[in-house]
Amino acid sequence: MRLIQRHPVRRVLLVGASGYIGRHVLAELHARGHHIAALVRPDSKRPEAPAECEFIDADVARIESLQAALLGRCFDVVVSCIASRTGTAKDSWAVDYQANLHLLQVATVLGVGHFVLLSAICVQKPRLAFQHAKLKFEAALADSGVGYSIVRPTAFVKSITGQIQRIRDGRPYLVFGDGELTACKPISQIDLARFMVDCVEQPDQHQGILPIGGPGPALTPMQHGELLFRLLQQEPCYRHVPPGLFKVMSSLLSPFTFLSNNLDETAEFLRIGHYYATESMLLWDANHDVYDAQGTPEYGEQTIEDMFIQALNDNSRVDTAVKRLF
Ligand SMILES: NC(=O)c1ccc[n+]([C@@H]2O[C@H](COP(=O)([O-])OP(=O)(O)OC[C@H]3O[C@@H](n4cnc5c(N)ncnc54)[C@H](OP(=O)(O)O)[C@@H]3O)[C@@H](O)[C@H]2O)c1
Repeated sequence: MRLIQRHPVRRVLLVGASGYIGRHVLAELHARGHHIAALVRPDSKRPEAPAECEFIDADVARIESLQAALLGRCFDVVVSCIASRTGTAKDSWAVDYQANLHLLQVATVLGVGHFVLLSAICVQKPRLAFQHAKLKFEAALADSGVGYSIVRPTAFVKSITGQIQRIRDGRPYLVFGDGELTACKPISQIDLARFMVDCVEQPDQHQGILPIGGPGPALTPMQHGELLFRLLQQEPCYRHVPPGLFKVMSSLLSPFTFLSNNLDETAEFLRIGHYYATESMLLWDANHDVYDAQGTPEYGEQTIEDMFIQALNDNSRVDTAVKRLF
């Protein structure tokens, strides 16, 4: 059984509670006894929540909507887990930057003491629109005078379990290059939510920019593949994709992107693909121009092997349910 150390109860405004990480933050805040007001957009599907959790309908994209919903209320901490769902440049600037800025403006007026932001470790080497949008908000938060924890996680488990069904279907595991170009220490959604709630409870010890990974060691995509094949007791089989393919396709599109938004967005997605195929999700050591696996902070208990086993079990439950249907 997990022992939870009791801290003073906080009044928390949670934004993005309908998302993958936000849902887990909500559950963890509840488990630790905090008062939760979850702000969701009116047409959003509300997450499962305990009866004590209050839902507030408002549109963070519109400052007037936020002001109408929040002015006169009291919160100790704001936790923002919002992020663009599409990853396009336009949406990232609207959500990761502008909507968060609206939240910060209202939080400042309300006298909120601390702001916990879900960001991403990849902003340390920014090349993509969504990274610049996140960084610009991080800078606004850091300059605001409000206490802050900018949580920059490494990879999420959902980003590395996507190939389980491919392998089950007998298809090869896809790796970029030789499969050793990148490495990561993924963090589970539960451990990340716990870390974010630690920031709520102990803001003094979690002040500033906080890169955070799960338990090590850092593994490459090839090592993830080996682990999965071992767990599935299947003969390893890989397909190697040259990461340069993304660059070639994006350069071919570049001269035409002014013609349509769709082409422009496709070119950005190709750049995103190239980034993740070639950059590690680990702490960047700018002095030595290398990723620092050892120096990437670790938190939590769930290892990548635990997460794979859980994902394989979840997957087989889905398989069984589908087989029962047909
Ligand atoms: N995937 C990875 O490996 C990884 C690693 C490190 C960091 N990250 C970072 O983690 C974040 C993504 O977290 P996640 O997977 O939990 O995201 P998610 O599941 O896509 O959830 C996004 C949340 O933002 C809300 N949202 C999006 N657009 C909105 C808008 N226009 N107005 C109001 N709310 C809006 C969504 O609300 P609705 O339900 O209403 O849409 C949802 O609650 C990103 O910042 C990403 O960069 C990801």
